[in-house]
Amino acid sequence: MTNNDKSAQDRVLIFDTTLRDGEQSPGATMSHNEKLEIAELLDDMGVDIIEAGFPIASDGDFEAVAEIAKRSKDAVICGLSRAQFPDIDRCWEAVKHAAQPRIHTFIGTSPLHRAIPNLDMDQMADLIHETVSHARNLCDNVQWSPMDATRTEHDYLCRVVEIAIKAGATTINIPDTVGYTAPRESADLISMLLSRVPGADKVIFSTHCHNDLGMATANALAAVEAGARQIECTINGLGERAGNTALEEVVMAMKVRNDIMPYRTGVDATKIMQISRVVSTVSGFPVQFNKAIVGKNAFAHESGIHQDGMLKNAETFEIMRPTDIGLSETNLVMGKHSGRAALRSKLNDLGYELGDNQLKDVFVRFKALADRKKEIYDDDLIALMTDTSTNAANDRLQVKFLRVICGTEAPQSADLTLTIDGKDHQITAKGDGPVDATFNAVKGLFPHDTKLVLYQVHAVTEGTDAQATVSVRMEEGGKIVTGQSSDTDTVVASAKAYVNALNKLLVRREKTKPAAV
Ligand code: KIV
Ligand code: ZN
Repeated sequence: MTNNDKSAQDRVLIFDTTLRDGEQSPGATMSHNEKLEIAELLDDMGVDIIEAGFPIASDGDFEAVAEIAKRSKDAVICGLSRAQFPDIDRCWEAVKHAAQPRIHTFIGTSPLHRAIPNLDMDQMADLIHETVSHARNLCDNVQWSPMDATRTEHDYLCRVVEIAIKAGATTINIPDTVGYTAPRESADLISMLLSRVPGADKVIFSTHCHNDLGMATANALAAVEAGARQIECTINGLGERAGNTALEEVVMAMKVRNDIMPYRTGVDATKIMQISRVVSTVSGFPVQFNKAIVGKNAFAHESGIHQDGMLKNAETFEIMRPTDIGLSETNLVMGKHSGRAALRSKLNDLGYELGDNQLKDVFVRFKALADRKKEIYDDDLIALMTDTSTNAANDRLQVKFLRVICGTEAPQSADLTLTIDGKDHQITAKGDGPVDATFNAVKGLFPHDTKLVLYQVHAVTEGTDAQATVSVRMEEGGKIVTGQSSDTDTVVASAKAYVNALNKLLVRREKTKPAAV
């Protein structure tokens, strides 16, 4: 159940930072359009605040935040900025287009972080006063974060939080930057701030937890019990290192255990599964099978005792229904005789609403798959929908033709035609196996100095005709990108995933050109 009275005592604001902290995970690069798509899904699902990026970081980030701000509907659009005037100004320039903009500014306040800019406690306190006041002069909605708050001396934390509130911050976010705290301590910290800091009752306290010790969800919920009313989180728990608090976990925990956690959010939980899939696809971070709420096995019952219990009464082993998070209850098989209407209805059940043109395009790919694969399962359709290598209209590189020779006699070879910037180029290359030969062929046609850091194949469903989803992660000068593709032919999926990663790298090169500031 949702409640849109955001000031109600039991209402917890959901602040999603998938597009900022999530995108900071090494390899989780998202293109401009992918960011717009995710922001739209977040807005539609009822997330209260979307942290859309770090506008000073690059022109690409700035443009994405500005565009998300322009397109925003109900959500507050927030941008991140360091405690520097040019950062804050740049952030404002991007978020000001939103109906409800927010500037989020932060500085590291723990002893370790204070040492980096070499500021003593008084100098840092002055800087906090100046930067928060500056942000507040630009925008009515200002969030301030003392980075590494959980390792900051309590007296100093109280002092700087009070300064930020007096300077005009409307939300005080308490980050556990290195995932160091534990639930009781997380709660005590919020209680301590609420009781000691003058003016604390006039602002919203927020919790921002990292998952290094696997406690990010527990720590966030403990902070809420102590009085925090905003949770910062990401879809699938994406984020730096071990990630952030997972949105789906806190939302469902407060729903399912509302008896002991009587708080509400504005999130429509039935949209969780769809956005989880999109984020996994565009970030290239597969969701672990046993991940709470959104993992493939989260609702699977394998043992006989469990299956028997489930058939008699689902509540025996299920604390929530698959449909609560937008999973369809049945896995009806589709095939080559299935028509366009059946495909549309099945995709709707899976959470995809398609326009006529989109449906036409997906139907062509569905038919091509059905020609090669007798039974098409939900997971096949999801793979079809999330195959980033097929959204290729603007891609500079495209796989046009591939034939490989493989078998017991080495060397294996690949005959490849790539379309590069609209022109076809052909090559035959050899390699140690068909995938190696194919990748050598791509390199022959489009030379580059990237390092392949991950090549991963997984079968979408069971059977020898199953589609393979291939993920390829590559690195160039510290920049990491991931490409993904699915096909019943593993080598074709590999070629497309590799080319997909290269296309992302080209976007990334553009994006990281130094900003004109
Ligand atoms: O983890 C952290 O401290 C952050 C801040 C920038 C809020 O992400
Ligand atoms: Zn963080």
